[in-house]
Amino acid sequence: MKVDGSIALVTGANRGLGACLVAELLARGASKVYVTARDPHRVASVVSQDPKVVVLPLDVTDQSSVDAAAKAAPDVTLLVNNAGVLGFGGVLDGDLDLFQRDMLTNQIGLLRVSRAFVPVLAANAPGAIVNVLTLIALAPVGGMAAYCASKAAAHSITQSLRAELRGRGIEVIGAYPGGIDTDMLAGVEAEKARPETVAERIVAGVAAGQSVIWPDDASAGAGSVYLADPTALERMLAG
Ligand SMILES: NC(=O)c1ccc[n+]([C@@H]2O[C@H](COP(=O)([O-])OP(=O)(O)OC[C@H]3O[C@@H](n4cnc5c(N)ncnc54)[C@H](OP(=O)(O)O)[C@@H]3O)[C@@H](O)[C@H]2O)c1
Repeated sequence: MKVDGSIALVTGANRGLGACLVAELLARGASKVYVTARDPHRVASVVSQDPKVVVLPLDVTDQSSVDAAAKAAPDVTLLVNNAGVLGFGGVLDGDLDLFQRDMLTNQIGLLRVSRAFVPVLAANAPGAIVNVLTLIALAPVGGMAAYCASKAAAHSITQSLRAELRGRGIEVIGAYPGGIDTDMLAGVEAEKARPETVAERIVAGVAAGQSVIWPDDASAGAGSVYLADPTALERMLAG
């Protein structure tokens, strides 16, 4: 997918990785970026004042909000499903409300936005959907059971979208980062990549035509383990 000249829309773009993806898309020549957020007032003014940026409200859990965004952005060629939440807790003792919230945002939200934008992307083809997943969609770590399950479901949705959209001029790309140094992992002791680096590698992977992107050193290493033997990754992360 050619990033130069593309018209992108990024969900959850007011902070964290989403904000870095916006900066990287603009640096790589996107001609317009829809910067979307639950609360558009939280988009930095230096970003919203960029003439190539259009700020839109978008809550991925709210169908009317998603429909309004699809109507307001009829020229999108590159959809980046980045919005996400992480509920901490184990598979046996984690709060079930967090399981539900993570599913509604990370799986159903991604699906809801993708469905709303497929007609837009098809009308403007060629185009692409980039889903920001995570390495731990492929094998879980302890203490994040709700998040891992929701991202595993989003990984499956990504594969279904790829199969259904094949031949319709819409690439479907999954990005599988390891830990990233954003608010999401604040207070968690872990190896964390810089969000700027992850954004750079995701956008480079899109431009290079990759359908699976390992955008940091940790995920690239663990990704090789997974591709050789998925049960080896499961043992590695569970340990
Ligand atoms: N951080 C990591 O270690 C890591 C690793 C792998 C993958 N990822 C994935 O990377 C993506 C970005 O995460 P991040 O690290 O940048 O986290 P973050 O700093 O917590 O940012 C999350 C973003 O998602 C938005 N969001 C949450 N719920 C939303 C909703 N219902 N509708 C629209 N936007 C919503 C947030 O908006 P508000 O400001 O309104 O809350 C925020 O902009 C997520 O999909 C995450 O799962 C993160």
